[in-house]
Amino acid sequence: MSTPNSQFHSHPLLRLWLPVIQLVILAAAAEQQQGCRDKCGHISIPFPFGIGRGCFRHGFEVVCNDSSYPPRAFLAGKRISRLSSSPLDPENGSDWSFSSIELVSISVATGKARVYAPVSYLCSTNLNRTFSAIYNIHLAHTPFAVSATRNILVGVGWRVDAFVTFIDFPLRWPYTVMFACSARARNLLPSVTPTNGSCTGRGCCHTTIPPDNNLGNLLSFSVKGEVPNERWEDYPCSYAMLVDKSWYNFSTPDMEGNRTLLKRFPRGVHIALDFAAGNTSCPAKGQPPPPDYACISGNSSCANSTHTPGYICKCWDHYAGNPYITHGCQDIDECKLPHVYPCSNGGICKNRLGGYDCPCKFGMKGDGKAGTCSDIFTPAAKAAVGAIGGILLMAVLSFLLILHKEKKKTEEFYKKNGGPTLEKADVIKLFKKGELKPILRSSNLIGKGYFGEVYKGLLDNKLVAIKKPINGSVLESEQFANEVIIQSRVIHKNIVRLIGCCLEVDAPMLVYEFISQGSLLDILHNSNNKVALNLDTRLSIAAQSADGLAYMHSKTNSTILHGDVKPANILLDDNFVPKISDFGISKLIQRDKQHTGQVIGDMNYMDPVYLQEGRLTEKSDVYSFGIVILELISRRRAIHSENNSLVKGFLEAHKKQKKTTEFYDKEIAITKDLELLDSLADIVVECLSLDVDQRPTMMEVAEQLLVLGRSRKA
Ligand SMILES: *[C@@H]1O[C@H](CO)[C@@H](O)[C@H](O)[C@H]1NC(C)=O
Ligand SMILES: *[C@@H]1O[C@H](CO)[C@@H](O)[C@H](O)[C@H]1NC(C)=O
Ligand SMILES: *[C@@H]1O[C@H](CO)[C@@H](O)[C@H](O)[C@H]1NC(C)=O
Ligand SMILES: *[C@@H]1O[C@H](CO)[C@@H](O)[C@H](O)[C@H]1NC(C)=O
Ligand SMILES: *[C@@H]1O[C@H](CO)[C@@H](O)[C@H](O)[C@H]1NC(C)=O
Ligand SMILES: *[C@@H]1O[C@H](CO)[C@@H](O)[C@H](O)[C@H]1NC(C)=O
Ligand SMILES: *[C@@H]1O[C@H](CO)[C@@H](O)[C@H](O)[C@H]1NC(C)=O
Ligand SMILES: *[C@@H]1O[C@H](CO)[C@@H](O)[C@H](O)[C@H]1NC(C)=O
Ligand SMILES: *[C@@H]1O[C@H](CO)[C@@H](O)[C@H](O)[C@H]1NC(C)=O
Repeated sequence: MSTPNSQFHSHPLLRLWLPVIQLVILAAAAEQQQGCRDKCGHISIPFPFGIGRGCFRHGFEVVCNDSSYPPRAFLAGKRISRLSSSPLDPENGSDWSFSSIELVSISVATGKARVYAPVSYLCSTNLNRTFSAIYNIHLAHTPFAVSATRNILVGVGWRVDAFVTFIDFPLRWPYTVMFACSARARNLLPSVTPTNGSCTGRGCCHTTIPPDNNLGNLLSFSVKGEVPNERWEDYPCSYAMLVDKSWYNFSTPDMEGNRTLLKRFPRGVHIALDFAAGNTSCPAKGQPPPPDYACISGNSSCANSTHTPGYICKCWDHYAGNPYITHGCQDIDECKLPHVYPCSNGGICKNRLGGYDCPCKFGMKGDGKAGTCSDIFTPAAKAAVGAIGGILLMAVLSFLLILHKEKKKTEEFYKKNGGPTLEKADVIKLFKKGELKPILRSSNLIGKGYFGEVYKGLLDNKLVAIKKPINGSVLESEQFANEVIIQSRVIHKNIVRLIGCCLEVDAPMLVYEFISQGSLLDILHNSNNKVALNLDTRLSIAAQSADGLAYMHSKTNSTILHGDVKPANILLDDNFVPKISDFGISKLIQRDKQHTGQVIGDMNYMDPVYLQEGRLTEKSDVYSFGIVILELISRRRAIHSENNSLVKGFLEAHKKQKKTTEFYDKEIAITKDLELLDSLADIVVECLSLDVDQRPTMMEVAEQLLVLGRSRKA
């Protein structure tokens, strides 16, 4: 009982191959398009319609008569027949006359074709003749049906009754469906006369065909003239027609004269036909499509035809083209069709596959498609935002300006402080402001002097002491640079090393190696934490300090004076090795112009000669160093404000040949060392001589101390 078709579908192996077979069929369908005419005159002939063998789907053949100009297209095999019963009709008496259905246009997108259809008419040549004329359009066994939605029945005439009858073929209940309309040119209200464009009963009537009627596929329409027609001489003709409602417009001359309407539309009037592919319905979901399935384009779907058995193919929404050919349906660029797909001014149209987006522009909210984009901010809010933005911009700008100024200032300072010179000299490291900044905190402050502040910190994994001078107290430019260069070349085990400096500030900062134990001042005189210091240590401190100072004084091309020799400037490392610090600082420090005459240095250790003459010499350092030795052996402080009691008392005691023993620190003043202490006392006295020439040089002091030290070891 199984038909070949069902075998085809049910065989498992075949089912496996079905997609491949369909692909082959699709390919064949696509190939069909090649070499086929797609036009007849001005009329496009898209598949499934086609001209010539293999160019059309079954039932969609088009015949093109190229002999006429322009060429005319006909639906092959579809016919219109006419039967007239009018004795005056020239065609009276003949049998059914047949003619082809002529095409006007085809739209595969809507599944509709427009064709020419005849007008049923009768014209009476006297008052009492009644007759009728019938046209049939034969659409049985074709994919076509008269569109119930697009067409209306129209009657035109002085007195007319128009009828349309759909006859289902083969006959199925209700067999026939009939609609009618009547027009009377003059009725109870004679003042209402026929009007152009108005088909409401005065000379013209119309009726719509109720949709959802299962219309038959043999169409018959006829017209009947009313008797008596007393105005038959002026209005001899009555007309009935099925016509595309968007096409026919009533015009009063249509009802006047002899066959005026027929002359106006010599080929007939436009009528819309639905067409369906095949006579089956769409395959149910999940079912394989039939072998001759028409919807072969991607992006398309099948829709059951509403008025005829069969289905039509449709491109998906937002796709356009021909669903009956492969790759027929392509995405629509909706943004190019703003009249169809709106996107208001406030929106930004963006095409995408299967649709489009129309988001509102930045700063707007709403729906661009609905045209409701509006500003998020009110003008006031906008102004506020603008103002805030402006302020922010100003802030950023001024910040940048400050940064720029800062940078410029930094560069200026760098230049002013002799940066380029030092750079060329390449003797010490030039630190950036930012590198030192983290160290310059009050918690790192370890000392304060007249030059400024000293901070302790870690730089490049080395402990350093940073000297930060008071602004404006430092030499300018070349002088400073030269001094720094000189200092940086002073490399001696008893001199604190200058590691680098930072020039990017008004008063350049100096970076020195950090000496762990602090100053001799602290060691000698800090009563809280008294460190035991034997004579050897003290002698060693004195000798090595003298060595350092002597080295400085002996630097050949430029003698470096310390200018402020004192225990506070002699630092001690873990092994009590002394390191002279702050030498040359006096040269770096500008003489205070407002206090000329006032000298720099510690009054407690100040050479009185220098005080008088105002000229710093090597011997001034020698004087100060003498006091340092005195403090070393006495462990007492020389204090200027106490009338220099220590120095004066010591010198007087020495002068009176009185022994200076009483000045010696008890810790070291043991009998066997008194001789050595006396020798030291002699050196002190020499150094403190008010006759500068009597003072030894630093070199001589150093040598004497060295000899004393050696004599002890021996
Ligand atoms: C084509 O049109 C011409 C002129 O209109 C007509 O004479 C001829 O019979 C037509 N041919 C066919 C095949 O209908
Ligand atoms: C026309 O119709 C009349 C009446 O139906 C008939 O008598 C007549 O023979 C027909 N033929 C012609 C050619 O007029
Ligand atoms: C026309 O018909 C009417 C009645 O139907 C009749 O009275 C009248 O005489 C007829 N006129 C002619 C010319 O036959
Ligand atoms: C209707 O339009 C035609 C021309 O198209 C004109 O001749 C005729 O007078 C118009 N009829 C009325 C009632 O305006
Ligand atoms: C009827 O009017 C419509 C709209 O004005 C027009 O598109 C159409 O072509 C007219 N029909 C005819 C047959 O002139
Ligand atoms: C009406 O026109 C047809 C041809 O179009 C003609 O045969 C007929 O004689 C005309 N009738 C009158 C009354 O003029
Ligand atoms: C459908 O059409 C095919 C030919 O295309 C025909 O063989 C078949 O009998 C038709 N079926 C129906 C139900 O009309
Ligand atoms: C078409 O009709 C058939 C049978 O009535 C049904 O199975 C199918 O789902 C319908 N398809 C669509 C797309 O409506
Ligand atoms: C579906 O549409 C997209 C976009 O136009 C196109 O690139 C694609 O080829 C189409 N798919 C098929 C199977 O035609």
